[in-house]
Amino acid sequence: MSERKMITAALPYANGPVHIGHLAGVYVPADVYARFCRRTGQDVAFICGSDEHGIPITIRAKKEGVTPQDIVDKYHEIIKKSFADLGISFDEYSRTTAPKHYEVSQDFFKTLYEKGKFTEEVSEQYFDEQAGEFLADRYIVGTCPSCSNENAYGDQCEKCGSTLSPSELINPKSMLSGNVPVLKETKNWYLPLNEYEDFLNTWIIDGHKEDWKPNVYGQVKSWLNDGLKPRAMTRDLNWGVPVPLPDAEGKVLYVWFDAPIGYVSFTQEWAAKNGKNWKDYWQSDDSELIHFIGKDNIVFHCIIFPAMMKAHGDYKMPKNVPAFEFLNLENDKISTSRNWAVWAHEYVEDFPGQQDVLRYALLSSAPETKDNNFTWKDFQTKNNSELVGIFGNFINRVAVLIHKYYNGVVPAGPENAPELGEISKAAGEIRQYLEHFEFRNALSSMMNLARFGNQYLQTEEPWKTIKDQPEKAAHALFVSAQIAVGLAQICEPFLPFSAQKLQQMFNVKQMDWQTVELGEMLIPAGHQIHEATLLFSKIEDETIEKQIQKLENTKQSNKKTNPNANPMKEEITFDDFTKIDLRTATILTAEKVEKADKLLKFTVDTGVDVRTVVSGVAESFTPEECVGKQVMILLNLAPRKIRGIESQGMLLLTTKSDGKLSFVTPDDQVENGVEIG
Ligand code: MF3
Ligand code: ZN
Repeated sequence: MSERKMITAALPYANGPVHIGHLAGVYVPADVYARFCRRTGQDVAFICGSDEHGIPITIRAKKEGVTPQDIVDKYHEIIKKSFADLGISFDEYSRTTAPKHYEVSQDFFKTLYEKGKFTEEVSEQYFDEQAGEFLADRYIVGTCPSCSNENAYGDQCEKCGSTLSPSELINPKSMLSGNVPVLKETKNWYLPLNEYEDFLNTWIIDGHKEDWKPNVYGQVKSWLNDGLKPRAMTRDLNWGVPVPLPDAEGKVLYVWFDAPIGYVSFTQEWAAKNGKNWKDYWQSDDSELIHFIGKDNIVFHCIIFPAMMKAHGDYKMPKNVPAFEFLNLENDKISTSRNWAVWAHEYVEDFPGQQDVLRYALLSSAPETKDNNFTWKDFQTKNNSELVGIFGNFINRVAVLIHKYYNGVVPAGPENAPELGEISKAAGEIRQYLEHFEFRNALSSMMNLARFGNQYLQTEEPWKTIKDQPEKAAHALFVSAQIAVGLAQICEPFLPFSAQKLQQMFNVKQMDWQTVELGEMLIPAGHQIHEATLLFSKIEDETIEKQIQKLENTKQSNKKTNPNANPMKEEITFDDFTKIDLRTATILTAEKVEKADKLLKFTVDTGVDVRTVVSGVAESFTPEECVGKQVMILLNLAPRKIRGIESQGMLLLTTKSDGKLSFVTPDDQVENGVEIG
């Protein structure tokens, strides 16, 4: 292994919180790997941050009626906190709107520009005349030329996966206004990816057939087989890093140009704060660069960013790009827009102190080689049968028995019991698995050691032998204590919170991986341990039902025909309803209320009486329009004074899509004072 590791995790878009799909497919495995590398004594930089440019951000801002900066400020904080709460041990978590990032990404662009690596092309791009903006990537939708999906984006069809350019779409439509866009000339800077084909073929296709995951290797190969095309590295947009050239007004760097440079700029921020040299991590031969990503990011990390780094000239290529497949939730695709997700920040709230349970559940169903599925039932089983039933149970019995029989002092035992070999075996297996990015297998090796310990204790039964064969009992608990300490060490990359508790419980420091793997005694006889604390606790059916219900509610609200409709109010009884006295009535007179722009004062014939009602409808109707209208009135509403006028009852109104009010009236003319119900 190398001395140094530059580990990156894909920068999440700051247009929403992170969910279990992100965690299982990128951040938890990346964290396990980073923690493991640190334990083997490597010099690790584990770097991430929010991806704050790009169209997903501006679209979200438009939808919420706020600025893109508002959006990224909000989600950056939420995302950053979720990662910290779940123990994702980034050395730096920054953001692409940081000033340093602007500087570094603009410098990178200028270097390529000055070296003549770009081609300038004037092309016709779609332009939305109403919005006065060019339409790049996701700002444009249309029919996919390959599969006829009518909702393909300007950069990609999500149905068939083909990469597109806006001009390939059939019947293009602007996402800004819904209008048909026009073509307009504009100049942009392109990176001729075709010129990097030979380099990529030699480096990846010839060089990494064995050590890269088949899904990654296969995708790169098929891209290269199809042939690469020049790709624009700038966009006509107003949200992003400005193109640092004099004739580039209104243009920004392509988000996939600036975002991966974020890895570099964030490393620089971290290095400056910690007295390190960032070049040791990015440009030195004793450093290995590893990118953790989801499968939709493969082309950017294996083709485009490497081509950029190659063009620049000073950078080392990634050693590996472990890309994960997708995680489904309850057999359905996770979706931010449909709110079909388990959100990290909500989990942390709903399951306080149980971060390791989620880490464990996600790692054991990590979508390593194919898409995988998360279910709440499965989550419960993993906690109750494995973490509580095996791991926690073993630890608890060891600690409790040592306290009970030996006042918390580890008894004397044999120097080289064969069982101790299981500890070094597990540590060795985990090392090998993690070196090959096999997280599920690594996790199993950890759990197998706990399983072994549990069975060992069950066979030895020191609680029985303590009476007649005290030496045998001591032996068993000495060995068990070693296994418990072994677990406290090797579980740290996976279950960092529990590892801390365990190390505290057994009164040991964190050891480096080699020490554990060497197979020597981890704690001597006579070592004092601390009180047993509970590591994991059972998750009840009720708790799981609540989560399932939450998803069920999401499913229901996704069925809404009107996405703006508010959810149903609390249920009432029939008796509640009969208390409400609704009648038909006719407006006799209407006049404006002085110094109140919104109010009209009505006299209405309710059939029961003639009374005064004040209503806030002056912006929707003139008084003349109201006179003679048949309406519905809530008759038994307690009178209240509005601007000094006593209003006796309430006229029923609804709101049209343009925001104007509309009276609720009976379908046909009826007598006044007729009850409604
Ligand atoms: N924001 C992108 C996504 O969520 C990932 C960016 S990774 C980087 O798909 F390399 F560009 F930083
Ligand atoms: Zn398609």
